[in-house]
Formats: sequence, structure tokens, C-alpha cells
Amino acid sequence: MSERVSFGSRMGAIFAAAGSAVGLGNVWRFPYEAGNHGGAAFILLYLGCVFIFGLPIMIAEFTIGRRSKACTGGAYEVLAPGTHWRWVGYLGVLTGFLILGYYSVVAGWTLEYIWQALTGGFVGKSSGDYVRMFQDFSQHPFRPLVWLFAILFVTHWVVVKGVKDGIEKASKIMMPLLFVLVVLLAVCSVALPGAEEGLKFLLYPDFAKVTPDVFLSAMGQAFFSLSLGMGCLSTYASYFGSKTRLGQTAMSVGLIDTFVAVLSGLIIFPAAFSVGIQPDAGPSLIFITLPNVFQQAFAGIPLLAYICSVAFYVLLALAAITSTISLHEVSTAFLHEKFHFTRSRAAVLVTSGCMLTGVVSSLALGEWSAFKICGMNMFDALDFLTAKIMLPVGGMFAAIFVGWIIDRKIVKGEVTNYGSLRSSYYPVYLFILRFIAPVGIIMIFMNELGLLG
Ligand code: TRP
Repeated sequence: MSERVSFGSRMGAIFAAAGSAVGLGNVWRFPYEAGNHGGAAFILLYLGCVFIFGLPIMIAEFTIGRRSKACTGGAYEVLAPGTHWRWVGYLGVLTGFLILGYYSVVAGWTLEYIWQALTGGFVGKSSGDYVRMFQDFSQHPFRPLVWLFAILFVTHWVVVKGVKDGIEKASKIMMPLLFVLVVLLAVCSVALPGAEEGLKFLLYPDFAKVTPDVFLSAMGQAFFSLSLGMGCLSTYASYFGSKTRLGQTAMSVGLIDTFVAVLSGLIIFPAAFSVGIQPDAGPSLIFITLPNVFQQAFAGIPLLAYICSVAFYVLLALAAITSTISLHEVSTAFLHEKFHFTRSRAAVLVTSGCMLTGVVSSLALGEWSAFKICGMNMFDALDFLTAKIMLPVGGMFAAIFVGWIIDRKIVKGEVTNYGSLRSSYYPVYLFILRFIAPVGIIMIFMNELGLLG
């Protein structure tokens, strides 16, 4: 067999994994979930989930990927041949495919908003106009589809270019740019008059608002934001070199991801409160509040309003694309490795499939909104099913697999790079994988179902 392609450097691996993790999950999903679930209390639970479940499960996924040198759909089969564990791999591929279906719709919205920002579409409007603008656009039968296809086209192109020249290079350019933009915008937002209210909302927890639903949402958000629970990072880890440090990489990705999420909160809430907009607007939050915020906040300086709005949506699009690439890669690598399609043939199949699911989720917000599953339209149902059920279940199985099933020598060998690193966190890591993560995840599910009294 030919040598497996790999990322060019340890930094390349961190950039690519962080590129996958940082995305709409941080800037779009995190603020509206926090806004709907009480702000600071949600954020504390979220941080708990990131550090208690997230980082160990991330290292576990890295272990599965790097050791098997296979995409997630094949990794379990390599490590536990002939067992039913392979279904966990397949579940991951399916989960990623479903996420990409609605994720790329939202990613497409960012392109429309870049367009609006560039052409002055936000100028001279009232608060109500922004709501209408978003509704008219997102419910339109065709317009969002054009942008959806554009996103899938770019994603497709990078994935076909391959791991090193496509994924690694794109992440290395986009990630630092994104970082600079997030910091600048957060500074602008916190400096607005009346921003304190937003800071309070972010920083003072109100535990009266913590219901079982808040636990489930915080856990789902942690998995979603860290790209965990479906083998996305395990597929990337199959491209890691033997010198990549799994623990250190997980820590860097976790910190970068959390940093961007918290900064997004710092961009959105102070700005929203400063112009008197409620934080619980849901998925439309950043699309309705922010254009308004930029216009009102910089009313005296139109050029600044213009630059900030363009910069913000460009940032969002960049973050989204490094994530759609990673979601796409999981299915593409699976078809390529399992069914021996060429990479480009595999990518064509994935892209075509996503066009279909994307169209369905986009229309679910407009023409087909009357069609509901458990009271949710297809878009919300896909988000609920994947983020709050499939990802935690997949993450739990990854933890059990590494904690209980594979050879202990491999588990230790992978975190120490087979003896060349000291990793004092190993016993804690193993304990979490074996006990805390599985029990914790099950308890959160039971709590949601009202079974914990
Ligand atoms: N983590 C990304 C975000 O925050 C989205 C994402 C990419 C993802 N790959 C994933 C989510 C795998 C879950 C699983 O936007």
C-alpha cells in the first residue's frame, strides 16, 4: 500500500483540526444557544462539558484515527476487526453527512450577508427591516440555494485538492485571519455605550434558569463546537505524523475553540444589548441583530459600519468553510477508502448528496415549513437529532472503545508517542474515558427524559 498522505507539520495538524472545530458552531450556534438558555449559567456548563468530556474524547478520537491510519468509517474495523464496532464508524459518517446538509445552508447565508454588506444593503434600515430582510431571504425558494451551491462548490474544490495542498493550506491562511478579525470586533463591541448589560448577561450566572434542557444543550454544543462524536477529528488524525502530540494538539484545539466562542459572545451580546435587542432571537440572532448593531453603533462613522459588517461576515464564511471541508472529508475519505472510488469521484457523490439534503433543509424554512417532525421543521429536526443525540452517542462510544476495548499499550503508546513523551495526565484521561464520560453522557440523556427525578 502506498504511504498515507499526511499534514506537512505539527502546526499544520493543529491548524487543520482547529479549522474544523472553529466554525458556525462558535459564532452562530453558541451565542443563540447561550441566549436561549440563560447566558452565563449555560456557558459554565458548556465549559464543564468541554473540559470534562470534550478534551479526553478528542484525544480518544485522535488515538483511533492515528493508530488505524484509516478514516472513521474504516478505523473501528481496523482496530477491532470483525466486530460490530464498525457501526460506530458508519454512524459517524452518516452524522457528518447530515450535519453538512444543514450546516452548508447557514454557511450559504453568510455569503448572502457578505454580498449585502458589500453592496450597502444594511444602510438606512430600521430594526424591523432587518427581521424582514432575513425572513424574506431565508424563506425564499431559490436565493439561499444559489449560495448553498456556492459553498458546496468551494468545499468540494478544496477537498478534491487533497489533504496537504487543500485542507492544510486553506486552514493556515484562514485561521490566523479569523483570529485577528474576532479580536478586533470584540474590542469594538465591548467599547459601545451600554455594553455592560451584555457583559453582565455573559458573566453572571443565573442558576434558576438551569433546566434539564440546558444540560443537554450545553453538552450538544460542546460536541458540536469541538467537531466531536462523529470521527471528524479522528479522520484528520489519520493524517497526523508520528511526532504530533495528541494531548497538546487537543488542548490547543480546545482552547482556540473556546476562545473564539467566548469572543463571539463578547461581540454579539454587548452589541445586542447596546442597541436594545433581546439575546434570545434563536438561529437568526447574528443575521438580524448584527447588521443593525453595526449600523446603529457606528451611526456617525458610516465607513466603520461598512468595514465591520463586511469583515464580520467574511470571518463567518471563512470559519464555516474550514468546517464544511472537514465534514465533507469524512464522507469523501470513507467512499474513497472503503469503496475505492477516486477522491474526486467520491467527492462528487458527497457533494451531490449534500445538495439534496441542503435543498431540503433550506426549503424547510420557507415553502416546506408546514412539514414537521416532533414539532420541528426539517432544519431544526436535523440539528436536534445530530447535535443533541447522535454526537453525544458517538462520543460516548469512542470513549468506551478506547477506554475498554483496545489494547492498553496502544492507548498509552498513542498519548506518549510510544515512549518519547511523558504524559502525566494519562491516568486521569483513562479514568474519564472509562467511567466519567459514559456515565455522564447517559445521565444527561436520562435527565432530559425526566428519569432522574
Ligand atoms: N465544529 C464546527 C463548528 O463549530 C462544525 C463541525 C465541523 C462539526 N465538523 C464537525 C460539528 C463534526 C460536529 C461534528 O462550527
